[in-house]
Amino acid sequence: MKIGVLCSGGDAPGMNACLRSVVRAAVSDGHSVVGIRHGYQGLLDEHFYGDESTGKAAPVMSARSVSHISERGGTILSSSRCQQFRSDNGVRMAVSMLDRHHFDALIPIGGDGTFRGAAALSKAWSGQVIGCPGTIDNDLIGTDFTIGFATAVQTAVDCIDKLRDTAESHSRLFLVEVMGRHSGHLALYTALAASAEIACVPEVAVIAAKVSVRVQLLKSLGKHSIIVVVAEGNREGGALALQEKLKESDCPYDTRAVILGHVQRGGSPTPADRILATRLGDFAVRSLAGGTSGMMAGQQNGRCVLVPFEETFSKHKPLPEHQIELLDRMSC
Ligand code: F6P
Repeated sequence: MKIGVLCSGGDAPGMNACLRSVVRAAVSDGHSVVGIRHGYQGLLDEHFYGDESTGKAAPVMSARSVSHISERGGTILSSSRCQQFRSDNGVRMAVSMLDRHHFDALIPIGGDGTFRGAAALSKAWSGQVIGCPGTIDNDLIGTDFTIGFATAVQTAVDCIDKLRDTAESHSRLFLVEVMGRHSGHLALYTALAASAEIACVPEVAVIAAKVSVRVQLLKSLGKHSIIVVVAEGNREGGALALQEKLKESDCPYDTRAVILGHVQRGGSPTPADRILATRLGDFAVRSLAGGTSGMMAGQQNGRCVLVPFEETFSKHKPLPEHQIELLDRMSC
């Protein structure tokens, strides 16, 4: 079997570990793997990993070609957000490229946008498509965690631990913006792990006036410093917008806003992400043997599962309610 593998959308720590796993599992099972560069864009452009020396020929990745990449952040295949692939014509072009190069299967690694494309492709193409969930957002239904989420939380927590030092020294309130345009998983987990006082997430309407009342209360309880973790997609705006609103409401603390931004996407993956990536890459390859297609390889309660692509992105992945409550109870 000839398997294509690509990384698409926002890169996530652990994508390389997943790639290594796909290649090594395929080699173990007697398949060949070709890396496609720059996500779906590379499918349209016929751009393969290692083809710099071979022109348009698609070089097969050996087990050795993925040695010592698990510990590296980003993706050695490169990624992209490909507009062209969102159209029917783009999908048709991808199908003809996959057929021209005699691919039997494709393993896309990415988030909801990647799986929307994968769902369309698996309907239009006779080959098999099985995806691995790689995104720092943890916003895919059907897997308890996505590859890259644990590392992004770790990175944000490391930053907030440092911010807490200076916040305590100056008795300040820091609004720390983390990624997540539509999802508050990263914000909530980060807030809990970093002992933040408040989290503002897109799923819950935390209006500035409410934050202000809470901050006044915390001040009266003797808190020297306050950390408010704000998700990028917070309904009343990000950290800067919230800072303006807090200033207008006589905030009892001197405030600073910090946007962590793309720093959360980088860095060496945590062991948890490496293990998850290795497990799911291997499971995706094994699942090809059964003829499966149109599915994401996920992990639920410690078990590997296959979930139809549409299910992974058609509904919002809810935040764990008990964690919202826990954060509230801890900030007294
Ligand atoms: O999808 C992952 C993500 O990191 C989101 O959390 C964030 O909103 C977005 O990507 C940023 O995308 P870009 O790097 O294209 O600006």
